[in-house]
Amino acid sequence: MAGLPKAELHVHLKGTVEPADMFAFAARNDVRLPWASQRALVAAYDYTGLDAFLTLYWQGCQALCTRADFYDLTLAYLRRAAQNGIVRAEMFFSPQNFLPRGIALADQLGGIGEAIKDADAEWGIRGEVIIVAQRHRSESEALDLLSLLRPHRDRLLGVGLGGPEIGNPPGKFARFFSAARQQGYRLTAHAGEEGPASYVREALDVCRVERIDHGYTATAEPDLVRRFADDGIALTMCPLSNLRLRIVDDLAAYPLPMLLDAGVLVTLNSDDPPYFGGYLNANYEAVGRSLALTREALAQIARNGFTGSFAPAGDIAAGVAAVDAYLEGPQDS
Ligand code: ADE
Ligand code: ZN
Repeated sequence: MAGLPKAELHVHLKGTVEPADMFAFAARNDVRLPWASQRALVAAYDYTGLDAFLTLYWQGCQALCTRADFYDLTLAYLRRAAQNGIVRAEMFFSPQNFLPRGIALADQLGGIGEAIKDADAEWGIRGEVIIVAQRHRSESEALDLLSLLRPHRDRLLGVGLGGPEIGNPPGKFARFFSAARQQGYRLTAHAGEEGPASYVREALDVCRVERIDHGYTATAEPDLVRRFADDGIALTMCPLSNLRLRIVDDLAAYPLPMLLDAGVLVTLNSDDPPYFGGYLNANYEAVGRSLALTREALAQIARNGFTGSFAPAGDIAAGVAAVDAYLEGPQDS
C-alpha cells in the first residue's frame, strides 16, 4: 500500500531531522551537539517515556538556527513525504524552541513557507503549518506567541498543543484556544498520549478542539469512542511513536480494528519519524502486519486522513476519490 495516496496530519517538523542533517546543520552553525557522532545519537533513540524523548529532541533542535535550516529541513521532509505517497501534510511547528535564541519568527516561517512552495512545484505535495504551543510553558507565553503570529496569519492553518502532557492539562490553555478560534485558526491538541482520558474530554469540552492528536488512552472509554464517531472527531494516532515511548508494549493490541468498527475517523501518522524508526509507510506496514489489517481497512484509514484533515471540502473529496481510484487501479501486491 506504499503508493496509496495519503494525508499526514501529525508530524512535527523539527522531529523530522535526520541524524546526518542534524550534524550538517550543527557544523554549519558552529553548534556543539551533546553526541559525539551520528551513531551515538541514534543509539540514544531509546526512551523511557515522553519526557526522556523530549529532552533529547529539544537538544537536537539546537542545531537549527537559520532561515536556510528551516528551508532545508522542510524540503527534506516533504521529499520523503512525497516518496511515502503523501499528497497533503499538515505539519506541526513550535516557534517557542527558537524564539529564546533570537531566531526571528520571519526566518523560521519564511524558510518553511518557501520550502512548501518549492515542494508543491516539484512533487505536487500540499504542505500546511499548524503552530504548536508548548504545554509546559505558561498560557500567557502561548498568548504572546499568538500575537507574534498575527502578521503571518494568512499562511498558517491552525494551532495545537504539544510537549510534556502529565501535569499540563489542556484546560490550562482555554483562553489561548478561544483567542485562536476567534482568529479563524483550526484547532487540535495532543491529548491522551501519556495523560488520562479526562484530558481528552477537557480538550473537547474546554478548548473545543476539532481533532485529537494521539487520543490513545481515550480509546479505552466507550463513551468517548462513541463521541468521536458521532461528532466526526478524528484521532491522529502514531503507532511507532507509541511503541518507542512505551505507551504500548505491542502493536498486536493496538485498538485500530475497534475504532474502525466504531466508525471513528482514526488516522495513521509518523509524529517524529527518525526518532521513532519510521515514516508514514512504515507506520502503515507495522500496524498492517501486527493486526493483519485488510487492504480495505488500510484504505479506510487513508480516506480518514483526508476526511479528518483541515482541507477545504473539495480537496477532501478529491483525496478520498484518489484513494478509491488507486484501489481500482492495477493491484500492486
Ligand atoms: N512533540 C513532538 N513529539 C511529541 C509527542 N509525541 N508528544 C508531545 N509532544 C511532542
Ligand atoms: Zn506529536
